[in-house]
Amino acid sequence: MAKPKIIIAIDGYSSCGKSTVAKELAARLGYNYIDSGAMYRAITLYFLRNNVDFKDSAEILNALADIHLSFAFNEASNKSEIQLNDENVEHYIRDMIVAEKVSEVAAIKEVRAFATAQQKKLGKKRGIVMDGRDIGTTVFPDAELKIFMTASPEVRVKRRFQELYASNPNITLEEVKHNLEMRDYIDSNREESPLRQADDAVVLDNSNLTREEQLEKVIGWVEDRTAANAV
Ligand code: CDP
Repeated sequence: MAKPKIIIAIDGYSSCGKSTVAKELAARLGYNYIDSGAMYRAITLYFLRNNVDFKDSAEILNALADIHLSFAFNEASNKSEIQLNDENVEHYIRDMIVAEKVSEVAAIKEVRAFATAQQKKLGKKRGIVMDGRDIGTTVFPDAELKIFMTASPEVRVKRRFQELYASNPNITLEEVKHNLEMRDYIDSNREESPLRQADDAVVLDNSNLTREEQLEKVIGWVEDRTAANAV
């Protein structure tokens, strides 16, 4: 009996390890992994490069009309990387300059409508793992498996600091902590699709789990869901 392909939605606060699980899960299942945060980051990069006024709806709509987002698989990183108008911007979008503005941009109604419509299309054929803030609530309310990830604030700050320090040794722990707190606040309190746990999501707290342990736990949930849906 062939196992049906499902949609796996992973949401949660900044730096709780969503992309690590999502990437490993997609590789194990032969699914596509889509990093929805990369889309908001790429839009923010475009806005910053083109001095788009975040308060001007007409300017925002004009800018969005010029943005084409796509993903291209990179064998070296083993990940689908975001392309902004055919330029691979994976590296630039991780910069603090983008991190400082992304939540403000992601709270804009027009931006969310633009990104959400594309995300929904990517899930048409199922067989997808997507991580973000509103995937289980807004993008794929019908996802077969919804995971809400959490980790302690200390663990999250430390993880993100280590990641960023590798490419920017001038970064401070305080700067990273402030950015995560600010983004979590804006993401949870915005009007449009705020970050919240879907009623039917399972919680994964990985503060004290190894990568292998968390993957095994999630694979168990996938097996439950696909067995229940087997045709
Ligand atoms: O990697 P990290 O969890 O820190 O962030 P990300 O997934 O790259 O997302 C960057 C930002 O994009 C978030 O802080 C949100 O403001 C926004 N975002 C969103 O609003 N909705 C999503 N589905 C994904 C990201």
